[in-house]
Amino acid sequence: MYDVAVIGAGPGGYVAAIRCAQLGLRTICIDDREKDGKAALGGTCLNVGCIPSKALLESSEHFEKAKLDFALHGISTGEMSIDLAVMQKRKQQIVDAHTSGIAFLFRKNGVESMLGRARIASAGESCSIEVSGKRIETAHVIIATGSSPRTIEGIPFGEKIVDSTGALAFRAIPEKLGIVGAGVIGLELGSIWRRLGSDVTLFDALPDFLPLADQSISKEALRIFRKQSGWRIRLGTRLISAEEHEDGVAVKFEENGKAVEEKFERLIVAVGRTPNSQDIAHPSLNLDIDERGFIAVDERCKTSLKNVYAIGDVAGGAMLAHKASEEGVMVAESIAGSKPVHDASLVPNVIYTDPEIAWVGKTESQLRKEGIEYRIGQFPFSANGRARVIGSAQGFVKMLAEADTDRLLGVHIIGPQASELISEAVLSLAFSASSEDIGCTIHAHPTLSEALREAALAVTARALHI
Ligand code: FAD
Ligand code: NAI
Repeated sequence: MYDVAVIGAGPGGYVAAIRCAQLGLRTICIDDREKDGKAALGGTCLNVGCIPSKALLESSEHFEKAKLDFALHGISTGEMSIDLAVMQKRKQQIVDAHTSGIAFLFRKNGVESMLGRARIASAGESCSIEVSGKRIETAHVIIATGSSPRTIEGIPFGEKIVDSTGALAFRAIPEKLGIVGAGVIGLELGSIWRRLGSDVTLFDALPDFLPLADQSISKEALRIFRKQSGWRIRLGTRLISAEEHEDGVAVKFEENGKAVEEKFERLIVAVGRTPNSQDIAHPSLNLDIDERGFIAVDERCKTSLKNVYAIGDVAGGAMLAHKASEEGVMVAESIAGSKPVHDASLVPNVIYTDPEIAWVGKTESQLRKEGIEYRIGQFPFSANGRARVIGSAQGFVKMLAEADTDRLLGVHIIGPQASELISEAVLSLAFSASSEDIGCTIHAHPTLSEALREAALAVTARALHI
C-alpha cells in the first residue's frame, strides 16, 4: 500500500513525487513514456517541450549572431555551414542528461518509478489504480497526465504536416516552412527554423497578435518581428485545408475574404494543446471533467473524487511547467498535513523569441476592465548601457502600479534576457512591493536589471536616464 501514487512524470508529477517522498510518504510515480524498457521521466517538458526547444533556440541563436553580429565586433568567420545532425545530437544529450537526472533524484529520495498506462479503478478512503494489468493500492492519487498537441479536424499529422514534437526533430532545414498558429509554440519553433535559414510563414485565425500579453507589448513584438528577415506573420487568416503531396504540403486559407493557396516543404500545426484526461478514471467513478477536457479542481487541486488530486496541464489554467511544479509541491504538502497556498496570479509567462517577452500580473486592459486606477512607468532598453553593450537594445520594461497605494500590479518586459529579469518582478509582486521599493533598491551597473529600476522610478516621473 502506497501513501501516494502519481500518474505522470512531467514537471507536475515528478516534482510532486519528490516532495511527497521528502515528506516521508511512500510514493510511486507511473508514466507511459518508454525509454530502454523503463519510464522516460520528465514528461512533455523535458522530452519534447521546454528543454529541447530551448536547446535548439540556443544553437540557432549562435548561428544567427555569428552570421549577422560578429562582423560588427570585427570578427570574421568566413563561409559558415550548419551540421544539423550535430545540433540535434547536442539537443538530445541535454534531454537525456536531464531525464536521467530525475531518475537519480527518484532514487535519492526513494520514489518508485513504474512504466505503464494508468487508470484509476476506485477512489475513496483508499484508492486503486490499474497499470498494464497490475493493481496498485494507495491512499492518495495525484493525476499529472499533462496535455497533447491539438489537431485540426481534417488535417492529420503525417510526415510533412507535423506537431511540435515533429518540428523539434527535423533532419533537414525546410526551405519553406508554414506554421498554423502564431502562439507561443509557433513563435518559438518558427524562430529556430527562421534563424537556421527557413523562409517561415505564420498563419493565425485571430486578427490580434498575442492577445494574452499586454497590448503595448504585443504591438511592439509584432513591429519588431515584422522587421526581422525570414518570416511573415499573417493574422486573421483562416485555414481551409492542408494536404501532403510528394513535393510538400498544399495549404488553402482565407485571407481578406479571398481564398489563397500556397505550397510549403513542411507545415507545423501549433494551435494549442488538449488535456490528457481521456480514460484516466473508470467511467463509473464520474470524475468531474469540463467540456474542454480539463479535470475540474478546487484551489487546492482537489478533484470531485475523494483523495484524488489533479495538477499541471490536465487541471487547466496556464499550461506551463513551473505552474505544474508549483501545484505539485502544494498538493504534496497538503497531503502531508499542511495548508499551503499557490497564487495563480503570480505565475510568470515567458516567450523565448528574440527579443524575449515576459510578464507577471495584470495587463492594462485587465486593470481597465476591473476599474482599478493605475500609473504606468516605462523604460526603453535603448537607454540601458548593458543592452547597448550586448547589441540588444530593442524593447522596454513597463510597470503598472496602483494609483492610490503604488503597489505593483503588473510588470511587462520585451527585451534581452526578459526571461531572467522577470524573476525580480515576480518577487516584488509576491511581497506586495511598491514601485518606490524597487526605485529605492540599488541595482548593479551596468546591468539589464537597471531598466527595471528605471521603469519603477518612471511610475512617479523620476526616471534618471530618459
Ligand atoms: P506533462 O509534462 O505533459 O507530463 C505528463 C506525463 O504523463 C507524460 O509523460 C505522459 O506521457 C504521461 N501520461 C499521460 N497519461 C498517462 C497515463 N494514463 N498513465 C501514465 N502516464 C501518462 N512550459 C514552460 O513553462 N516553459 C517553456 O519553455 C515551455 N516550452 C514548451 C515547448 C513546447 C514545444 C511544448 C510542447 C511545451 C512547452 N511548455 C513550456 C509547456 C510544458 O511542457 C507543459 O506545461 C508541462 O510539461 C506540463 O507539465 P505536466 O506535468 O502537467 O504534464
Ligand atoms: P497557443 O494558445 O499559445 O497558440 C495557439 C494559436 O493558434 C493561437 O494564437 C490561436 O489563435 C491559433 N489558432 C487556433 N486555432 C487555429 C486555426 N484553426 N487556424 C489558425 N490559427 C489557429 O498554443 P500553442 O502555441 O500551441 O502552445 C500550447 C501551450 O504550450 C501554450 O499554452 C503555452 O502555455 C505552452 N508553451 C509554453 C512555452 C513557454 O512558456 N515559453 C513554449 C511553448 C509552449
